[in-house]
Formats: sequence, structure tokens, C-alpha cells
Amino acid sequence: MTLKQEVEKRRTFAVIAHPDAGKTTLTEKLLLFGGAIHIAGAVKSNKIKKSATSDFMEIERQRGISVSTSVMAFEYQNKKINILDTPGHEDFAEDTYRTLTAVDSVIIVIDGAKGVETQTRRLMEVCRMRNTPVIVFVNKLDREAKDPFDLLDEIESELTIKVIPLSWPIGAGSSFKGVYNRFETKLQLFRSVNKQQLTDDILEITDLDSPEAKKAIGESANEQLREDLELIETVYPEFQQQEYSAGKLAPVFFGSAVNNFGVRELLNCFIQIAPHPQKSPTDVREIDPFEPKLTGFVFKIHANLDPNHRNRIAFLKICSGVFERNKPYLHVASGKQMKFSSPNTFLADKKSVVDESFPGDIVGLYDAGNFKIGDTLTEGEILNFKGIPSFSPELFRYIENADPMKSKQLAKGIDQLTDEGVAQLFTLKINGRKIIGCVGMLQFDVIQYRLEHEYGAKCKYEPANLHKACWFKSDDKTQLDDFMMRKYNNIASDKYGRNVFLADSAYSLQMAKDKFDKIQFYFTSEF
Ligand code: G4P
Repeated sequence: MTLKQEVEKRRTFAVIAHPDAGKTTLTEKLLLFGGAIHIAGAVKSNKIKKSATSDFMEIERQRGISVSTSVMAFEYQNKKINILDTPGHEDFAEDTYRTLTAVDSVIIVIDGAKGVETQTRRLMEVCRMRNTPVIVFVNKLDREAKDPFDLLDEIESELTIKVIPLSWPIGAGSSFKGVYNRFETKLQLFRSVNKQQLTDDILEITDLDSPEAKKAIGESANEQLREDLELIETVYPEFQQQEYSAGKLAPVFFGSAVNNFGVRELLNCFIQIAPHPQKSPTDVREIDPFEPKLTGFVFKIHANLDPNHRNRIAFLKICSGVFERNKPYLHVASGKQMKFSSPNTFLADKKSVVDESFPGDIVGLYDAGNFKIGDTLTEGEILNFKGIPSFSPELFRYIENADPMKSKQLAKGIDQLTDEGVAQLFTLKINGRKIIGCVGMLQFDVIQYRLEHEYGAKCKYEPANLHKACWFKSDDKTQLDDFMMRKYNNIASDKYGRNVFLADSAYSLQMAKDKFDKIQFYFTSEF
């Protein structure tokens, strides 16, 4: 196959959701329909259970297992599908945000009873930063759910995206009768099926006027469905591929993942409309996936699979060309040539060494500590991919050395853990005190635990009453200098030496914005 055919064959995406909406279940069902697994449970068993919310030891244990579900690849209708897994636990949201920098599209799962939730909103903001194409799956229709028109309004206004229902539910909960598939113009009747295995006993009716259709869902539901469909035709626009690809229009599907219902329709539509790997911006030029030379970037690092060796797996997203085993590539950050004797790819829940990978694929590279998030590999060209920012953390603590004999180990540990993206490190300009910024509380425990167990270092935390870290810039040097001077107590450097304003409250941030109106403040490190 040519490189062009390989690129066009690939669909790399992530399933994202507010916890509990059904992301794991849907992912599993996609694997099941894709023939990658034959019985559900493989992904589920790797999931960090809700009961473990405060048990980071459990999370440590799971971390080892979950490397195998980081990428789930399978072939379906001559397409190579790569599903990138995202952590279910809210405290690891930043991992999810970063994974979104490596996908070409997403499927957002929404609980039909709960509608759009906090995490759905946040994840959508990240998608919007890159205009990622989005398909929405409204799940749990077998339970009482909100009115579908209300749900569509909610999605449209809360996620600020136009929607178009490509399937339509007939009832919900105890009166759920099925969905009408507008994409394939078929009526599919619901039956609660064997949840673990694939069954193909879904009744399909193509003619809504047929007595069979009326009998199957009843006269009144049939009438209601026709009215709904008429309304949809007048209210919602036609599906436009271009608008979907530009991230402006989200097709919406309804179903019940646990009952395997609506999943195949979703997958079939996804295969047809989801984009193959697209161009990626760098600081020098745009990279086209069809270029013959390899480029790629690290979007995730999975550390310490064996506590005795500090080895890690860096996940490289291939953006152009062909990745070959044992071929030397330039690691742009260090200027060194690197080659990899056992790059891994992932097939469902198995990983294996591969000789060649193509744009859209993810390869796992064994790494002894050279890589950090965002690092680029090329065949010699010096460039760095854009769109892999750090996100402003919301929880802060001073970190202090609790064992003066181990200060070197502590520095090294903090350096490597922040390279991995576990947390961010800020150093206050005024006194050099170090502050760790995280997205979730649990990460503080994870850092402390890992510093001790992997680096032999001890740390302690002290509360830091801070609200947000913002990167900033301005063309007005006088105002910038004035701001830096007045706010000097709250200015820190991030790991890469960029200035950051650590606002101690939403109020003080607003005050700073009002007073220093020529300064732009940013919640991500890339602007
Ligand atoms: P998440 O990854 O988004 O956090 O959600 P997950 O798939 O784990 O699903 C959360 C819960 O919702 C699970 O129940 C799952 O079985 C249930 N669920 C998923 N899809 C549907 C659906 O279509 N209908 C209904 N009624 N429930 C659904 P749980 O009790 O937390 O776990 P389990 O013991 O059932 O595995």
C-alpha cells in the first residue's frame, strides 16, 4: 500500500465524557463491533473504579495495566481505527486534554438523563481550541431521559456547536422502543440484549408507513415519530461534511451503549465521515501527513512500569511519513539522533513490536528519561509541533524537601515527573520557592508517593492559597514592566522559564485584567 492509502485508511480518535456517562462502556462496544474483542470486560476491568477515588495506591496499580489500553487499534470496513484512551478519573483531566492533541476527531458521550455536565463542557473547550470534529452519542436511553429536543438545545447552547440529529429516539426508559436512523433511513427496534456479546437480532424497518412499523412501535409512537422527524427536517440543517470537519457541526446519535444499541450505527457513520490524519501546525510550517519524511510528537509518557528500572513508555503520534524500527531520528529537543529497536504498537489489548507505522498511528517508545511531553522526532528538520500546551492548573501547594540528604534525588524526581506531565512546577521569582500545580487533588499524593518509591526522596507540602496560573504577554513594555513590578510577589517561572502570574483569587485576576488592559492573560501556555 502507498503512504497515501495508509494515511487515508486511518481514523484516530478519542471517546470523551463526564465520568459515568458511559465512555468505557461505549469504547468497549466499539471494540466489540469492530471485532477487536469478543467479549466485553477487557477495558472495563482496567478502569479505575469510583470506589478508588481517594485510593491512589489503587491508581498506581492500575497505571501499570492501563498502558495496554492507552491505544486500542482495530480494523473495521478496511479502515484502521485507533482509539486513544483517556483516564476516567477527573483528577487526571490534564492527561485527557493532552490526549486530545493527538486525535483527529472525538466522540462525546452524554448521559441522556443528565445532559451536558461540567467535564463535558471543559473537554469541549479543548476540542474547540483545535476545531476537532465532534460526534455526540446520547447514552442510556433505556432509562428515563430528558426530552431529545431539549437535549439538542442544551448541547447546542452549552457546547456552543450546531447540532444535527442523525438518529432519533422513540421514547425513553420503560417506553423506549428504538431509534430511527436518519443517516441510513431505517427504524431499529430496541430489545434488551446480551450485554457482553454481540448479537445481531436488531429488527430493521425501512418503511415507516408499513403496518409492520406501526405494529412494532404502536400507532401513537409512530405518529409522534413522524411529527418529530418533520420538525427535525425544518429546524435542523442538512448534514454538511465540511461543517463537521471544521468542528462547527456535531452529528448526534441516540442509543444505549450497555445494550449494544445505536453503537453500530454510530460506528458506521463515524467510518464514513470522520477525518483521516490532517495537517499539523508547527513553529516553522504546516506538516502534511502525506509527506514522505517522518515527523511526530510525544503526547503522553507512561512511567515506571517496573519500579526497579526507571523506564518509561513515550507515546509518539506520527504526523507524517513512515516510522521505521531501528532507523535513526532526530530528537529535536536534545539535537541527538535516536533509534528504537522495539517500538510498540497496540492491537486491542495486546501490544507488539512493529517494523513500520504510519500517520495517525501511535507508537510506544521505551525511554530512559530523554523525552518530555511535546518533544518532536524528525528526519533532520528542526521544528516543534504546536497545539500541545500546558493547561492552567487549579490546585497549588508549596513543595518542600523533607530529607535534606536527598535534595538531588528530589530535584531529579520533580523534573522527571513534570516532564511526564503529572503536574506543573512554578518557581516564585521573589524567593525561589517551588510550587506544584495540579488539576486534581489526587496528583499531590501520587507525586509524594512516586518521589519516595521511585527516587528515594521525601517531600512535604504546604498550602498555597492560589486561584489560577496564567501565562501573559503584552506589546506595551511600560505596562508589562509596571505589572511585573507591582505583582512581583505573584510572578513565577514555569519549567521552561516562561513568566506566569499566580493569581490568588478570581477577584485579583479580574482586577489585574482591568488595571493592566494592555496585557493579555492566557489559561494555556500556548498562544
Ligand atoms: P464512564 O467510563 O464514562 O465513567 O462510564 P461507564 O462506561 O463506566 O458507565 C458508567 C455506568 O453506566 C456503568 O454502571 C455502566 O454499566 C452504566 N451504563 C453505561 N451505558 C449504559 C446504558 O446505555 N444504559 C444504562 N442503563 N446504563 C449504562 P455501573 O453500575 O457504574 O457499573 P457496572 O457495575 O454496571 O459495570
